[in-house]
Amino acid sequence: MKPYVICHMMPSVDGRLRTDRWDVPEIGHDEYERTADSYRADAWICGRKTMEEFAGGRSVRSHRREKIPRDDYVVARKRRGARYAIALDPEGKLHWNDNEIDGDPIIEVLGEDVSNSFLAFLREKGISYVFAGRKGAELNLSRVLEKLASRFGIRKLMLEGGGETNGAFLHQGLVDELSLLLTPVADGGIGEPTLFDVEHGRSRKAAAKLRLKSVRRAASDMLWIKYAVRKHGISTSSSKLRP
Ligand SMILES: NC(=O)c1ccc[n+]([C@@H]2O[C@H](COP(=O)([O-])OP(=O)(O)OC[C@H]3O[C@@H](n4cnc5c(N)ncnc54)[C@H](OP(=O)(O)O)[C@@H]3O)[C@@H](O)[C@H]2O)c1
Repeated sequence: MKPYVICHMMPSVDGRLRTDRWDVPEIGHDEYERTADSYRADAWICGRKTMEEFAGGRSVRSHRREKIPRDDYVVARKRRGARYAIALDPEGKLHWNDNEIDGDPIIEVLGEDVSNSFLAFLREKGISYVFAGRKGAELNLSRVLEKLASRFGIRKLMLEGGGETNGAFLHQGLVDELSLLLTPVADGGIGEPTLFDVEHGRSRKAAAKLRLKSVRRAASDMLWIKYAVRKHGISTSSSKLRP
């Protein structure tokens, strides 16, 4: 069984993501949190680059000879009902000062070739981890979701960026719904992360086709748009995607 996955994001009108370029008022950020909380999800997940904003920098590599078995490591939650904060960190690059983010217990998702010293560091900190792939760069996201459900009881998951991470989930057909707080900014930065960064170059297929669920005006001139994912991997030649 896999959790229901909602991709909750705050993109500019041209689908870019770096809010630090936009001077968004506090009320806009609060609206992002409020709308996310309305889903009452069990956890939120981000890619390593986004999670760096919450971590205390990069992990320091040290040589530890003692081999630690590549078994998942589950730390019991201190508080029942606490949401989990999950980091896709295949190579173990994040350095955590604590085992939670604002009270949300951290789970690291790792590749099996992560260092023994990083596993020892996570155990010392009391941070849970799961393995989801032999090679660091190729995490099996379907397996990640299955493990999050079976090991941690996660039924509803907020997927919160960045673009590379959202793109990987969408590409693997694992996103059920989009929840977008469209922010009244035209970013225009070529090369900036976008809502779904799936692949380089021109592809014959769009990543997904969507069905509108609702649109609401939100704080600070934002629009809260909800879409269901109708179908993943749409061929542009057969479905004739048009504006
Ligand atoms: N506006 C918004 O709502 C919003 C929300 C979130 C983030 N953001 C912004 O988005 C930007 C970051 O986005 P990004 O696309 O550059 O990075 P990202 O998605 O945050 O992180 C990408 C990294 O996550 C790991 N990863 C992701 N998918 C993986 C997979 N399938 N298998 C293995 N590893 C995977 C890799 O880590 P390694 O490199 O360690 O292998 C990869 O380089 C930041 O500027 C952030 O502020 C905006």
